[in-house]
Amino acid sequence: MTIENIQEAAETAVTEYILAQESKDQLRFLTCGSVDDGKSTLIGRLLYDTKLIFEDQLAALERDSRKHGTVGEDIDLALLVDGLEAEREQGITIDVAYRFFATEKRKFIVADTPGHEQYTRNMATGASTADLAVLLVDARNGLMVQTRRHAFIASLLGIRHVVLAINKIDLVGYSQERFEEIRKEFEVFANGFDFETLQAIPMSARYGDNVTGRSDKMDWYSGPTLLEHLETVQVGEHVLEAPFRFPVQWVNRPNLDFRGYSGTVASGQVSVGDELVVAGPAKQSRVKSIIGASGEVSSARAGEAVTISLEDEIDISRGDLLTSTAHRPDVADQFAAHVIWMSDEPLLPGRPYLLKIGTRTVTATVSEIKHKINVNTFEHVAGKTLALNEIAFCNFSLSSAVPFDPYEANHTTGSFILIDRMSNSTVGAGMVWFALRRASNIHWQALDVDKNARSEKLGQKPAVLWFTGLSGSGKSTIASIVEKKLHVDGRHTYTLDGDNVRHGLNKDLGFTDADRVENIRRVGEVAKLFADAGMITLVSFISPFRSERQMARDLLEDGEFIEVFVDTPIEECRKRDPKGLYAKADRGEIKNFTGIDSPYEAPENPELHIRNVGREPEEVAEEIVEYLRKRGFLNSFSADGGGI
Ligand code: ADX
Repeated sequence: MTIENIQEAAETAVTEYILAQESKDQLRFLTCGSVDDGKSTLIGRLLYDTKLIFEDQLAALERDSRKHGTVGEDIDLALLVDGLEAEREQGITIDVAYRFFATEKRKFIVADTPGHEQYTRNMATGASTADLAVLLVDARNGLMVQTRRHAFIASLLGIRHVVLAINKIDLVGYSQERFEEIRKEFEVFANGFDFETLQAIPMSARYGDNVTGRSDKMDWYSGPTLLEHLETVQVGEHVLEAPFRFPVQWVNRPNLDFRGYSGTVASGQVSVGDELVVAGPAKQSRVKSIIGASGEVSSARAGEAVTISLEDEIDISRGDLLTSTAHRPDVADQFAAHVIWMSDEPLLPGRPYLLKIGTRTVTATVSEIKHKINVNTFEHVAGKTLALNEIAFCNFSLSSAVPFDPYEANHTTGSFILIDRMSNSTVGAGMVWFALRRASNIHWQALDVDKNARSEKLGQKPAVLWFTGLSGSGKSTIASIVEKKLHVDGRHTYTLDGDNVRHGLNKDLGFTDADRVENIRRVGEVAKLFADAGMITLVSFISPFRSERQMARDLLEDGEFIEVFVDTPIEECRKRDPKGLYAKADRGEIKNFTGIDSPYEAPENPELHIRNVGREPEEVAEEIVEYLRKRGFLNSFSADGGGI
C-alpha cells in the first residue's frame, strides 16, 4: 500500500464513521487548563475508554511512552493527544486540535486548546463553536489565574455550560474537603458569569476515576462521572428556538425556471409557506420550496444546509440575510462589540480591516477603543491599541450597513472576524453587543451645489497628488514647486503638509503607529473634502503604511488619487538631514523615527515612482505636471478646451 492509499483508506473509514454517527445527538466542547493540569491525559482517557484508538496507534503509543512518557511502564495517555513531536519535546500543546469520539448516546467533538501563554487566540478559536467548557484544575493548586481567565473567556464567548474538572484528586488523598473548597471558591467567582449549568467533578484522569467509570475511592461523591454528564447535559436548544436566520451563501440558478438561495440555517426553523424578509432592504416573500441534502423537504432547522426558493422574484444576492418577518435583526453601520485580537501586529483604531459577518464582508474600522479588559483581574483599562491576545470593547464603523443580532441572542449572526486587507489573514474575532444609533440620525444634506458644479466653475478636474516617502526625501520641496507651476497656470490648488497639519488639526498626535494611522485617516478625509471642493490637492506626508494610503485612495473617485512615491534611499536622507532629525534619532533623542525604529512600507504600484537621487527638484516637478497634463487633469473643464 502506498502512503496515498493508506490515507485514502483512513479517510474512507473516518467518513463512514462520521456518517454512522450523524443521526446521533452531538455535543461540542472544549477543554482548558494550565500546562500541568492533565488536560491531554483527560482527553486521552476519554478517547481510550470510548475505544476509539486504533490498534496501530496503540502500538505506537506504547513505544512512545517508553521514549517520552512520564508515567513509568503505563501508557502515557497524554502522548495520544499531544500529537506533534515538537510539542512532545516541549511538553505543551500548540494549536487547537479537534477530536471526535462517540458513545451510544451522543457523539462528541472536543477542541483541545493549549494552556500556555498564547492561550486566548486558540481558546477563542476552539470556543467559538463549543456548547460546553471543561475547565481543568489541579486539586493540589486549586483555582489559578488561568482558571479564572479561561472561565471569563468562555463566558465572553457565550458558553453557558461549564464543568469544573478537579483533577489529580488522588494526589490530595481523594479529599472531599479539598474538592468542596475549590468548588465553593469557583461558584462564588463564577456567580456573575451567567453559566446555566456548572458541574464540579472530582477526578483522576490518569487512573480514570470519575472520567468514564465511577470511582470506588470517592464514596462521598454522588454526582455524575464526566462522561455521564457530557452524555446528558442539555445544551443548544436556544439555537432552535431563536428567530429564523439564513445567511445566503450563493444564489443557485441552474436554469431560467429556478432560482434558489443556498446556505446553512444559522438559527431557528423554516417551513414551506413561511413569510420571509431580506434584512435591510426589507423585501418580503413566502417560502415556495426547500431542498435538503436528499431532495425536497417541508421544513429545515438550525444547522441544516438547504436551498430555499421563494414565491416572488426579488433581488437577493450572496451576503444577504433571510430572516423571519416577526423578529427582524438590527441593521446598522456602527455597533459596539467585544473583540479578541489574534495578530502579532497590533489593532490600530482608524485602520481599515475587512469585517466578515455571516456571509457578508465589508470594510470596517475601530472608531474608538472604549476599554481594554485585563483578563486576569477583569478590570477595564484604557488603551490606544490592542496587542496579541488582548480583549477590548470597541465601537466599530462599517463601510455599509449590515444585518446582525446581539451575540447574546445569536452566536452566528452576532459574531464576526476581522481580516487584514494586506495579508488576508484573520486578525481578530468579535462579538456584537448593540447597534450604535448615532449614525442613523445623521443624514446627508442634499446640496444643490455639488462637486461637478464646483469643478466646472473652477474649470478643472479635481485630483489628489499624494506624496509619500521618508523624512528628508524631498516630498515637500517637490510638492511646493509643483504647486507653484499649477498656480501660475491658473489652477486652484492647496497643499496639506505633514509638518503644518500637525501644528493644527493633528496637534494631538505623535508618532506611534496608532497616531500615524489616525494622522493619515484625518488627512485622507480632508483630502477628500478638498477634492469635493474641486481643488487640485497636494498631500505631503511620510504616510508610512500601505493600508492607510489604500484607505485614502478608496475615499476618492477612480483616478483621482495619484500616489507619488518619492523614493530617496535612507542613506541619502540621512546625509541631507534638513531638520537635523536623523542625527537626533541616532543619538536616541527621538523615538519611533521612520526608517530607524519605525517601519516604512514602500508603495507597490504608485502612479509615479520618483527615484530622486541626482535629479533636480525642478525637473521632477515638471515630470509630475506632465503626468497631470497627459491624464487630462489640466484640460479646461469648459467646452473650448485649453490648459497648459
Ligand atoms: S506620518 O508618518 O504620520 O505620515 P508626518 O508626515 O505627519 O508623518 O510627519 C513627519 C514629520 O514630522 C517629519 O518630516 C519630521 O519633520 C517630523 N518628525 C518628528 N518626529 C518624527 C518621527 N519620530 N518620525 C518621523 N518624523 C518625525
